[in-house]
Amino acid sequence: MRPLRVLITGGAGFIGSHLGDRLLADGHEVVVIDNLATGKREDVPAKAKFVSGDVSKVAELEPAFEQHGPIDAVCHIAGQVSLIKSFTDPTLDLRTNVEGTVNVLMQCVKRKVSRVLYASSMTVYGGSDAVRPPEDGPCWPISYYGITKLAGERYAHVTSERSDLTHPLNVTSFRMYNVYGPRQALDNPYQGVLGIFLGNLARGEKVKIFGDGEQSRDFVYVGDVVDAWARALGDERAYGQVFNLGSGKRMSINALADVAARAFDQTKADVVVHEPARPGEQRQVEADTTKIERVLGWRAKTSFEDGFGETVRWARGAKN
Ligand SMILES: NC(=O)c1ccc[n+]([C@@H]2O[C@H](COP(=O)([O-])OP(=O)(O)OC[C@H]3O[C@@H](n4cnc5c(N)ncnc54)[C@H](O)[C@@H]3O)[C@@H](O)[C@H]2O)c1
Repeated sequence: MRPLRVLITGGAGFIGSHLGDRLLADGHEVVVIDNLATGKREDVPAKAKFVSGDVSKVAELEPAFEQHGPIDAVCHIAGQVSLIKSFTDPTLDLRTNVEGTVNVLMQCVKRKVSRVLYASSMTVYGGSDAVRPPEDGPCWPISYYGITKLAGERYAHVTSERSDLTHPLNVTSFRMYNVYGPRQALDNPYQGVLGIFLGNLARGEKVKIFGDGEQSRDFVYVGDVVDAWARALGDERAYGQVFNLGSGKRMSINALADVAARAFDQTKADVVVHEPARPGEQRQVEADTTKIERVLGWRAKTSFEDGFGETVRWARGAKN
């Protein structure tokens, strides 16, 4: 594959910064735009070009498409990522995830960018009864965040299918499950549960479980996730596709609390406090990865033991 100039929106964040590292290692040029709402400037790879800006403001987004030369492909990862915040600040969620996505897509159309990869989420399935929903199954988001991620995904694919485009725009979306790994937020009570637990334990705090703890999540290691993105970037088989991206295995929150407590030489009974269940939370979650295995030959390779060990080592040394 020829080297591309790739714009990563949200490239100062957890997934975006790992993808930047990977694309640079693959020989691509990387431009990052981020408003540092949750991302960190120091996590942007040193060899990437950085543009400070908000994707929901066209005037701040345009320089990312101009300052460092024409963009060949966009990995649109910037987003308001908190399910809880989507209920407490729905306007911010809407502006960032929907308006920001529309702005990115319109820049791509205007500038004849031919490739867009979009960070969607398993929350689009929401209240769907299936434990392992396939990509063509019903989407029934039960959080505002799930609604805005689904809207962004549909905007991306409908834009690529517009008959009035003068230049092809090939879109791929990844409905990611619970991504974990080094650099994930440990200090944000509204983000991924695994990071929240590790942050609590590193700071000597109690770990809160909402509801009975028997709800489950599919934890997928960030190195595996960016491998899927990097492979799909230049692969025509991925054009127009929506892929579930997870480990294909589920783990209960009680089991997670147990391994997390043990990693910090404690027991679950010492550290866990129970709180009432929260609205908008899915119950049993596990990715059906049949499609991405079939189309791209991708499957998660990192065992939970290895990925979790790596994350705990990083969390013990992290400043936050
Ligand atoms: N982490 C997961 O498990 C997971 C699962 C499914 C989907 N996703 C999606 O993946 C993406 C990245 O998530 P993450 O876990 O890396 O979170 P993150 O918070 O680390 O990354 C999001 C990045 O977007 C930036 N950002 C937010 N609003 C912006 C704006 N208006 N303009 C420019 N930049 C902005 C943030 O500063 C941050 O760097 C998000 O779109 C999220 O919805 C994440």
